[in-house]
Amino acid sequence: MDQKNKSNILVTGGAGYVGSIVSEELSKNGYQVIIMDNLQQGHREAVPRDAEFIHGDISDAQALEEVFKQSNIDAVMHMAAETVVEHSITEPKRFFRSNVVGGANLLDAMLNHDVNRLVFSSSAAVYGEARSIPIEEEDPQNPPNPYGESKLMFERILKWYEKAYGLKYISLRYFNCAGASNLLGEDHHPETHLISNVLRVALDRGNPVLIFGTDYPTKDGTCVRDYVHVLDIAQAQLLALQRLSEAELSSEQASRVYNLGTGEGYSVLEVIDAARRITRNEILVRDYPRRRGDPAVLVASSKRARQELGWRPKFQDLDSIIRSAWNWMSTHPNGYEQ
Ligand code: UFG
Repeated sequence: MDQKNKSNILVTGGAGYVGSIVSEELSKNGYQVIIMDNLQQGHREAVPRDAEFIHGDISDAQALEEVFKQSNIDAVMHMAAETVVEHSITEPKRFFRSNVVGGANLLDAMLNHDVNRLVFSSSAAVYGEARSIPIEEEDPQNPPNPYGESKLMFERILKWYEKAYGLKYISLRYFNCAGASNLLGEDHHPETHLISNVLRVALDRGNPVLIFGTDYPTKDGTCVRDYVHVLDIAQAQLLALQRLSEAELSSEQASRVYNLGTGEGYSVLEVIDAARRITRNEILVRDYPRRRGDPAVLVASSKRARQELGWRPKFQDLDSIIRSAWNWMSTHPNGYEQ
């Protein structure tokens, strides 16, 4: 798919897990990538070679202004965020400051420099406990934690900026992102995500995996999630960007919210079983109380993304997602650390 495409894309959070893989795909497709990341969760080593890197934080309005002054930005992919759900419950102020105020700073800089295309990384956390499965985009939104609330607040800001300033945006609500590309993968400190935690136990044979809650109203009492491969998320990001560009040329209405998931739900125990099969290693587990702010079931309907964006996830089954994460972890046992 190599094509020369001279558009300059600002990726906030582009040194993070999803951001770096989206940046890698953008570069492969001929976009010029400018990454702004505070390296709080991101890694300098994860920045693709062709990308320009700016060490900065979106809470710094002046720094953002400089980025837009210096680079001729055509569109923005906004992924910088505080993301650990549990931290959001004990320290909501950090989340509203970064995910809402930081986001508003970014929008101000975009408006000041006539940049009006934005792809936003939102989350299934905007829904909370679902009334029906699979979840559709217009279903009730009752975020069960400040993280989800901050994502929903920013989506609402986008809607009003569209009306007032003509901002064109696509908000992608990721369900449970997992897996890796050949070079880049998941390396969080602390790691909270199930698949990485389970594979870590398979690799290091250390402490058991904690199973957060075994009394949920689900098939085996553990939470059910819709796991989606990070490369499929990257594919959706690029399609969203294209969609906004085409809409700009034809003055078509394009601003929209899309779920990104495969539509299949797997319980925590099913994930652990699949990981045992794939790694052929022992994985010790321990039952543990529920984690605060976890809904029982989150499974997406992604009909809208498939129909309107032409999104075609390539990794449809849990095994291929876990295998991809395992390949990366086995070849990068210390993550990005040498
Ligand atoms: N879990 C465990 N043990 C672990 C880690 C997780 O039992 O060590 C359980 C969780 O309780 C949950 C499931 O595994 O039931 C999945 O947990 P993750 O932390 O992997 O993912 P979440 O569903 O909590 O969060 C993900 C994204 C968030 C997003 C959210 C939507 O990481 O950014 O989905 O609710 F907000």
